[in-house]
Amino acid sequence: MSQAVSAISIKGLTKDFAVTLRGVKLRAVDALNLEVAEGQVYGLLGPNGSGKSTTIKIILGLLEATVGDVRVFGVPSNKVEARRNVGYLPEAPYFYRYLSGRELVRFYARVCGVPSATLKARVDEVIAWVGLSGAADRRVGTYSKGMLQRIGLAQALVHDPKLIVLDEPTAGVDPVGSAEMCELILKLKQQGKTVLITSHLLAQIEDVCDRVAILDRGKLIVEGSVNELVGQRDRQALIVDPLPAADIEALKGWLAERGHALNSVEQPRARLDQLFLSKVSRPGRPGGASAGVGSNEVPLDDKPKA
Ligand SMILES: Nc1ncnc2c1ncn2[C@@H]1O[C@H](COP(=O)(O)OP(=O)(O)OP(=O)(O)O)[C@@H](O)[C@H]1O
Ligand SMILES: [Mg+2]
Repeated sequence: MSQAVSAISIKGLTKDFAVTLRGVKLRAVDALNLEVAEGQVYGLLGPNGSGKSTTIKIILGLLEATVGDVRVFGVPSNKVEARRNVGYLPEAPYFYRYLSGRELVRFYARVCGVPSATLKARVDEVIAWVGLSGAADRRVGTYSKGMLQRIGLAQALVHDPKLIVLDEPTAGVDPVGSAEMCELILKLKQQGKTVLITSHLLAQIEDVCDRVAILDRGKLIVEGSVNELVGQRDRQALIVDPLPAADIEALKGWLAERGHALNSVEQPRARLDQLFLSKVSRPGRPGGASAGVGSNEVPLDDKPKA
């Protein structure tokens, strides 16, 4: 049986940049090997300057590899055909501020060859999908950071690509916006899409990614499934109602008789982001606002109350 083609296959990738006129080079990516299977959400992690965006730009054919073989669904990444299957949300995207969100997505739809007959419906559909229908006719220059990332996601999805590459999609976005971006990423996974994502928000990466790779100075230093990497197989947690000290002692004795140790007794804590998300307004949830979009809109003739 033939092996399934990886969504992304990177073999022996090295990228050098010439950084001085005298030919001094900076090795941004160093002998990188990586396979991203179709249908996975894959996290590319690493400190600033570790080569994540450079790797992404090579996957997208925006930069040429110095050495190595990079393929997208089996097609060399420097071929135009490879790009047809990829949607891209760049790091710190710059969008023309005088276009409305709808005009912007329409522009990318044309660039990506979405057929005219279906273009309007597709643009509307993808804008609704990212929760921006209410703000689609506002100028992009008036959008919040969270809205900019959403419209960026809409333009990345408009041609229905099989692979979506998101370079720091939650940079500068508040926890509500970030959580919603994660929900959208998981929905993409449910649709069978492959997602490559970089982020410095590691808790979020842990929540959405199947596998991760960690780069450091261009080199791959860790790769594996999130469960394998952070699951503690030699530990187990039992969550119980609060116990009196005497019962804990009795439990310790009971476990010791059976050759087991009670390693720690602690009060579980909710994560701060969970607390935040439970307190502030969220779209589509009781008492919530609408996607951070027009959520605090008031009619123009409404005077502020003293
Ligand atoms: N066009 C370029 N010319 C010269 N050097 C570059 C260029 N692009 C990137 N670099 C260098 O390559 C290295 C990797 O940069 P890259 O942008 O890939 O890092 P990154 O992991 O995406 O970092 P960040 O988390 O800050 O986004 C850095 O040292 C950077 O300065
Ligand atoms: Mg980067």
